[in-house]
Amino acid sequence: MVIPIYSKKYLAKTISEIKSAQYSGKKVKLRGWISKKRSLKQKIFLVLRDSTGHIQTVTSSDSKAWKSAEEITTESSCFIEGVVKKDPRAPDGYELIVSKILIVGLAETWPIARDTSSEFLRDIRHLSIRDPKQQAILKIRSGVISGFHEYFRSRGYHEHQSPSFTPTPGESGAETFEVKYFGKKAYLTQTWQLYAEMMLPVLEKIYTMAPSFRADKSMTSRHLTEYWHAEAETAWQEFPELLQTIEECVRYICSKISKEYASEMTLLGSDVKYFSKLPKFKKLKYRAAVEELKKAGFKIKFGDDLGTTEEKYLVDKRKIPLFITHYPTSLKAFYMKRDEKDPDQVLASDLLIPGIGELVGSSERSLDFEDVKKRLRSAGEDPKKYEFYFDSSRYGKIPHSGFGLGIERLVMWLTGAESVKECIAFPRTPTRFTP
Ligand code: 4AD
Repeated sequence: MVIPIYSKKYLAKTISEIKSAQYSGKKVKLRGWISKKRSLKQKIFLVLRDSTGHIQTVTSSDSKAWKSAEEITTESSCFIEGVVKKDPRAPDGYELIVSKILIVGLAETWPIARDTSSEFLRDIRHLSIRDPKQQAILKIRSGVISGFHEYFRSRGYHEHQSPSFTPTPGESGAETFEVKYFGKKAYLTQTWQLYAEMMLPVLEKIYTMAPSFRADKSMTSRHLTEYWHAEAETAWQEFPELLQTIEECVRYICSKISKEYASEMTLLGSDVKYFSKLPKFKKLKYRAAVEELKKAGFKIKFGDDLGTTEEKYLVDKRKIPLFITHYPTSLKAFYMKRDEKDPDQVLASDLLIPGIGELVGSSERSLDFEDVKKRLRSAGEDPKKYEFYFDSSRYGKIPHSGFGLGIERLVMWLTGAESVKECIAFPRTPTRFTP
């Protein structure tokens, strides 16, 4: 059968479009997939889904569409024609009284049952992402990404792309993926940062949205091996202004999502009101954080890193995003600026969010290259490999700062998802790179 889908006759509306008084009582054509089917003797209820929403359709046994309604299976694609009816008993206040069904792709028996395990759902992620809650999460993800672009573009930032194959690891404390590069060894990028710093004399205010790769064998709900990294680097920017930018940016995105994706957030049970106007973020120095943790019974001393449990304790009790600042130099990356008042600590900050922990890593950058080289050496790195980075700063170095934010962690927070694995369509983890 040739389906005349491109003929004017089959020009379809979207589901969200027709759920309005304007279409009530009117005949419309819709297209999409059948997400649920329930058959009674005289009636068949099909829930039709497209990317904009769901609508319940009703086919009566005396309708010409009855045979197709009987034949059609869950997840089949189809065109459905019918009259929109306002009905307060229908799930969204509207339903469609069906007069015609054209099956486009008849689906085989759908393999997802109610009690399917989450591991199996990940094995068939290409199908399980059709779930309405997954759909809502992925829409919010798309909104978060556009929010990041909007925030920086509207403030005069340029978008810059750094390479994904790099000659050096870019980040301390994270494992790199090594790849063969025509007989040489290259790394998959962990951060755009070193290249971003070299771009400042060209564009001054820059941001990016790109995948970063981490080879850590972390099997937690907040780690992926490939994640989307929103990063910004700003010329002439010092530490206090950096924290201000991070707070403003996160606040902008959360408020945008709560306005534009309120129905998706409601479906997911997340708190639209809280995100629409986040309370002012708190700040706590690392030293004070360690004291607070000790008092609470944690076995921690100055110089120890804060793990997920410690981070969550600090931020969850406040219920407000929390900047931990002034970490010990020994804990943080080679490129971070030492605090002039206390060189054993750096002008760096991690922003923690409730329920998750670290969302953002940030710092003012060091301009003392002899010190940076020393720190690289003590991290087991060869400073000669970073010569391009030092060379760029020989010609007009300036104070500057930057940060990196994990998109999936922000989406996890906004949606209340169980894991970052739910916040990207096809997650990559140490044990999974399919589908
Ligand atoms: O703290 P990180 O490692 O910072 C950097 O890479 C800096 N060079 C960024 C910069 O200043 N331009 O990573 C930044 C953020 C983390 O706070 C976290 O949200 C996210 O990236 N992240 C991960 N997200 C998912 N899976 C992982 N394995 C992640 N590792 C880091």
